[in-house]
Amino acid sequence: MAHLAVKGGSPVRSAPFPAWPVWGQEELENLSAVIRSGKWGSTAGSFTGEFEKAFAAYHAAAHGVCVNSGTTALRIALLAADVPPGSRVLVPAYTFFASASAIVEAGAVPVFVDIDPGTFTMDPRLAEAACTGETSAVMPVHFAGRPADMDALTALARQRGLAIIEDAAQAWGSEWRGRKVGAIAEAGCFSFQSSKNINAGEGGIILTDDEVVARMARSHANCGRRPGGQWYEHFYLGGNSRMTEFQSAVLLAQLARHEGQRKIREGNLRTLNEKLSSMPGIQTLGSDPRVTAHSGHLFIFRYQRDGFGGKPKAAFVRALQAEGIPASAGYADPLYRQPVFLNTAFGPRGRSVPWPVDYGSVRCPATERACREEAIWLTQNMLLGTSPDMDDIVEAIDKIRRHAGEME
Ligand SMILES: Cc1ncc(COP(=O)(O)O)c(C=O)c1O
Repeated sequence: MAHLAVKGGSPVRSAPFPAWPVWGQEELENLSAVIRSGKWGSTAGSFTGEFEKAFAAYHAAAHGVCVNSGTTALRIALLAADVPPGSRVLVPAYTFFASASAIVEAGAVPVFVDIDPGTFTMDPRLAEAACTGETSAVMPVHFAGRPADMDALTALARQRGLAIIEDAAQAWGSEWRGRKVGAIAEAGCFSFQSSKNINAGEGGIILTDDEVVARMARSHANCGRRPGGQWYEHFYLGGNSRMTEFQSAVLLAQLARHEGQRKIREGNLRTLNEKLSSMPGIQTLGSDPRVTAHSGHLFIFRYQRDGFGGKPKAAFVRALQAEGIPASAGYADPLYRQPVFLNTAFGPRGRSVPWPVDYGSVRCPATERACREEAIWLTQNMLLGTSPDMDDIVEAIDKIRRHAGEME
């Protein structure tokens, strides 16, 4: 008789993990207040300004500028920080598409840098090796909520005169040596898209301590206007990337709940790392005392097929899902393997992008291993679960390991 649920055995659990989003009376009341006010846009209402102040204060940043997505935040931050057109911006190969697409949309050229497999963030030594005279900026991604090595990257940026734009889209409240990420460098960008730990369906924010960057970002997001200017006066190039009051109303309520939720996620992340660290076939990510807070957007571990009868990652993910643990294989390919970077003809005229870089020859071995063989993700809503929920995750992984021969 089969043991594994994927072969017809009984699953470790059938109960769902906590649902996301979490919402309550606060969201309803704030939304109702926006509707009743008749001020539905941020140029008239007060919720967006209030949220900008509250979010910036939570991260100890001087300024916050809300926009309509994390992708927009990255694009506008690069432009506001004056990253020159055509210059090169270092970005990890293991991240969401937006980190790179925003660089292109800002007129610059992404240069993909491999990750440190022990942290899933940009390897600073490889970043240094990738620098040329054309490099203008570096975009560390605090992937899964784990801060990138901001000591090494800041030192590199100072030495080379580079700007740093932090992609903190997954890292609300994460800290590097006691400082909130996204508020360490020239600018930091966050996302409030549906899957994110602070969620308004869509949305983003740019944080900065630099008054000029803040002013340019705000102007860019608001059709090139300036404070005190006329509605039809446009001083700077920019479109409408404003957030609505509905989003800000929800975000204020979400933010109030966030730190409590973050602590639960962080505690569960620690528990899973501890319990899985000695299991054969599983490599947990190393801890680092400089990471003083973690948003817990994803729990990531590295699958080692040798501990699982040589079975591929895809079989393990299927088996884990069948046991009632909705794990994900994460990104299937490094970003430089996306069709758009490989000059794949697309669109009605079959055009491809004329890249000044040969992305087809890029190789980032740690990212390739992570995508194809190793990385397993569990999402933030699961990390809001109870201690028995975490025990089920560990139990399911161990069960699959003990009966790995049944996997297909
Ligand atoms: C690392 C990273 N950067 C940027 C973004 C873009 O954010 P948004 O989806 O809000 O545009 C995301 C969101 O998925 C992300 O995970």
